[in-house]
Amino acid sequence: MFKKIVVFTGAGISAESGLGTFRDVGGLWKKYNIEDVATPEAFNKNPSLVLDFYNQRRKQLLKSKPNVAHLSLAKLQKKFNLVVITQNIDNLHERSGVKNIIHLHGKLTESRSTLDNKIYPINNSELNLGDLCSKGGQLRPNVVWFGEDVPNMNNAIDEVKSASIFIIIGTSLNVYPAANLINYCLKSQRIILIDPNPTRINGVEIFAKKATEFVPKLVDDLLSSNN
Ligand code: OAD
Repeated sequence: MFKKIVVFTGAGISAESGLGTFRDVGGLWKKYNIEDVATPEAFNKNPSLVLDFYNQRRKQLLKSKPNVAHLSLAKLQKKFNLVVITQNIDNLHERSGVKNIIHLHGKLTESRSTLDNKIYPINNSELNLGDLCSKGGQLRPNVVWFGEDVPNMNNAIDEVKSASIFIIIGTSLNVYPAANLINYCLKSQRIILIDPNPTRINGVEIFAKKATEFVPKLVDDLLSSNN
């Protein structure tokens, strides 16, 4: 049986693909208030503003491609049972060839009915007021907003518990419940964190480097190791 590697990613892995992070200098949450664009209340109050915020993210995503960090992670599938748990709403892990991905915060490429939660693909880059589901309800981005449940959290916890190696890349570990995943690691597991501005955590191997600088080397080391 292949050993399981679970990789937990945040905005930092997509930074070098041209997608901004949230909390770094110049990050999205320095330009926008979370309360204006990323809560259910914001969508009730000013749906156009919220839809426009995600339309801009989607347009940026269309211009971006996976970087060497995304691409090298996919190579782990040759020798390991790889699960990527991502907080990112982009599709760069999918486009790099990773098969088993859990999106904790939803997907930019999907919309969801406000009537019955049915999911629809977004075929062009925009989702607008008046775009309706088959029952006539307004569509919203299929993303998790602040104050909403994270439906995939329990699946993610199960994957973390059964991993041999847990690799964290490019996240400030500020947002819960996602940041709690690390607390489900067992003592026997190897935990590795790659981030140029890392959160120091006991028992974690820390590499204060950019994803594209360090992930390819880590992947090569894991693929050439004997265990
Ligand atoms: P943050 O913006 O909070 O953190 C980004 C992390 O990426 C920081 O720790 C940076 O040091 C690191 N970083 C920057 N450049 C990097 C690079 N080239 N390589 C590796 N790491 C780099 O983003 P997240 O932790 O992903 O949720 O944010 C978590 C959640 O907060 C998001 O999913 C989103 C946001 O609000 C929702 O909208 C629900």
